[in-house]
Amino acid sequence: MFSLGLAFLASLSYAAAAPTTQLGFSNTTIADVKANLLQIATHSWELGTAAEALTELETPTLSVFSSKFPPPSNLAASVVSSAVDVLSIASTVVKEKPANSQTLIAGDGAVGDPASVGVSVLLANWTRTQLSDTSFSSAATTQLNYLLNIAPRSDDGAISHRSDQVQLWADFIYMAPPFIAYYGALIGGNDGETLLQTAYDQIRLYRQNLLDEDAGLWRHIALGQGTDPTHWATGNAWAAAGMLRVLETIKHSSASKKFISQQKDLLSWVDDILTSTWQHQRSDGGLYNVIDDSSTFLDTASTALMAAATFRWSILTNDLSHVSAANNAMSLIQSKVNSDGWLLDTVDPETFHAPLADGEHSPEGQAFVLLLQSAYRDYNSILGEFASVKSSVADAITNAAT
Ligand SMILES: *[C@@H]1O[C@H](CO)[C@@H](O)[C@H](O)[C@H]1NC(C)=O
Ligand SMILES: *[C@@H]1O[C@H](CO)[C@@H](O)[C@H](O)[C@H]1NC(C)=O
Repeated sequence: MFSLGLAFLASLSYAAAAPTTQLGFSNTTIADVKANLLQIATHSWELGTAAEALTELETPTLSVFSSKFPPPSNLAASVVSSAVDVLSIASTVVKEKPANSQTLIAGDGAVGDPASVGVSVLLANWTRTQLSDTSFSSAATTQLNYLLNIAPRSDDGAISHRSDQVQLWADFIYMAPPFIAYYGALIGGNDGETLLQTAYDQIRLYRQNLLDEDAGLWRHIALGQGTDPTHWATGNAWAAAGMLRVLETIKHSSASKKFISQQKDLLSWVDDILTSTWQHQRSDGGLYNVIDDSSTFLDTASTALMAAATFRWSILTNDLSHVSAANNAMSLIQSKVNSDGWLLDTVDPETFHAPLADGEHSPEGQAFVLLLQSAYRDYNSILGEFASVKSSVADAITNAAT
C-alpha cells in the first residue's frame, strides 16, 4: 500500500509539470448548458438558482465563496461585462415586480422561492451606477420584510416555505437563508448581525423539523397537507448547498469572529448530509432520487448539486474524505450532458418522484451543472496540486482496497 502511494505521488508530480488543461467541462459545453438554462428557467427558484450559478461561474470574485463584504461598489469594466447575466436577471425581476407585491416575484405561492433572487437584487443595488435608482434596494427590503414579519411560521418559529399553509421544505434552505444572511452581511452593524443570526436560526429550526436522525438525511417536506417524508436527493442537496452559502456569507462578513459556533455547526451539518448521502452512492457515481431507496431511479440533478456542495465543503475544511465520491459524480455528470448542452436523466423537479420524459429538461438541473463546474474549478485551483495528489492517492487506496 505504501509503495503504491509513493508510485502515485511520483507519477503525479511528473504529470503536474505538464501544462494544465481546461478543468472539468469544456467552455463550449458550459456555454451551451448556460444558454439552455436561460432559455427554460422561468419559476422564481429557477431564476434565483440561475443567478447564483452564473455568479459563481462568471464573476467568482463577487460570489460569497470568495468575496469579502461589502463587495466593491465600483466594479472594474471586466467584472461588469462578466456580471451582465446575473444583473440582467435581477433587473428583469425588479422591473416586472408589481408595485404592491411584497415578494420579488408576485403570486408565487411559495414564501421561500422568490427570495432566492434577492442576492442578485442586492448585488445589483450595491453595484449600480445610477445612484438615484432605489428600485433594487426597496424591492429587496420589501422582500426581507415579508419573510421576517408577514409570512406564516411554525410554532417553533420556522418561516413557512408556503404562503397558504405552514409547511417546511428542505428546498427553503437554498432560497431564503442565503438572502437573509447576504442582506445582513451587506448592511453590517447590529442589524446585520441580527440577520446573520436569523439565517442560522432558520436553518437550525428547519433541520430540527426535517432531519431523520436514523438515516442522517433530511426529509423533503414536513407539516401541513401534502408532506413528503422521503429523503429526496434534491432536497438534501438544496439543504447542504444552502447551508454552505450561509456559512460563507457569515465567514466573509465583518462579524465572522462573533459567529464561530454557528459556522462550526453549519460545517458539521453539511458533513452529516455528505457522509450519509455518499454511502448510498451508486456504482456509476450517481444518486438515487430518494437517496437511500435503491428502488428509485438515477437522478443526475441532485448528484450534480451534491457534488458541487462536496467540493465547496472540501475547500473550506481541507478534508478530502468526500472528494473521491464527488469526483466519481463529476465523471458521471460529464457523461450525462449531451452534445447540445442538456443534462440527461433528471428527476421531474415539479413532481419530485418521477423521471422527466425524454426530450424534457430540468431548469434547476442545468444550473446545478454550472454550480458543479464552478465548485470543481475552485476546488482544483485553490487546493491545487496538493489536493489532486492527495485525492488521487486516496482514490488509489480505495480502489486497491475494493
Ligand atoms: C475557458 O474559459 C475560461 C474563463 O473564461 C478561460 O480562462 C479559458 O482560457 C478558456 N479556455 C479555453 C480552452 O478557451
Ligand atoms: C443599496 O445600496 C446603497 C449604497 O449605494 C446602500 O446604502 C443601501 O443600504 C443598499 N440597500 C440595501 C437593501 O442593501
